[in-house]
Amino acid sequence: MSQLKIIAIVGSLRKESYNLQLALAAKDIVDTRASFELLDYADVPLLNQEIEFPAPASVRRVRDAVKSANGIWIFTPEYNHSYPGVLKNLIDWLSRPASKEERQVLIRKPVAISGISPGMGGTVTAQDLLAMLLSMLNADIMNVPRLAIPNAAQQTDENGKLKLTTSMPYLEKQADAFLSFLESRSAKI
Ligand code: FNR
Repeated sequence: MSQLKIIAIVGSLRKESYNLQLALAAKDIVDTRASFELLDYADVPLLNQEIEFPAPASVRRVRDAVKSANGIWIFTPEYNHSYPGVLKNLIDWLSRPASKEERQVLIRKPVAISGISPGMGGTVTAQDLLAMLLSMLNADIMNVPRLAIPNAAQQTDENGKLKLTTSMPYLEKQADAFLSFLESRSAKI
């Protein structure tokens, strides 16, 4: 079997993002067992049906990246008890086929969901809403385990770097589970 390919989508665009740091920790855990690429989608425009066809180059790039991956791992912040608008905009673009001949790239795509927040909720509500959205798009969501980490600042060093002092074992468990999930799906292809 060729090496599994995971595309990571971080729902925050800020450089010091806790969710970006969580994704980078997951990349280290996955290491040699799968390729793990962060999806750069900062240049994807706000969806406007007037520019849908032909799709902008940035949209074609993110669609192709998702299409070529065995699975997607989403790391989402929670904004006002939901997932951020930038993530919804990206998923809206991904939910539209490039042409009548092609199918949308999220159908039956395996997806893992994680999130971290400085607050006590740990992104649980945002994750539930994201799972609802992805389920409507017929993505293949790994609902157990998900990972929701609260109180992010309690797991950082003095420079704000995420150390995951208590949550690392849970991230490792989720990574193992997602790799098994992907292997079970790839075996069917
Ligand atoms: C937030 N934040 C937040 N946190 C939370 O736990 N529940 C929430 O509903 C919200 N709502 C919210 C709305 C908006 C508009 C912003 C900008 C922020 C705080 C948020 O969790 C915090 O800024 C995180 O650090 C964002 O994630 P990244 O960028 O660190 O990955």
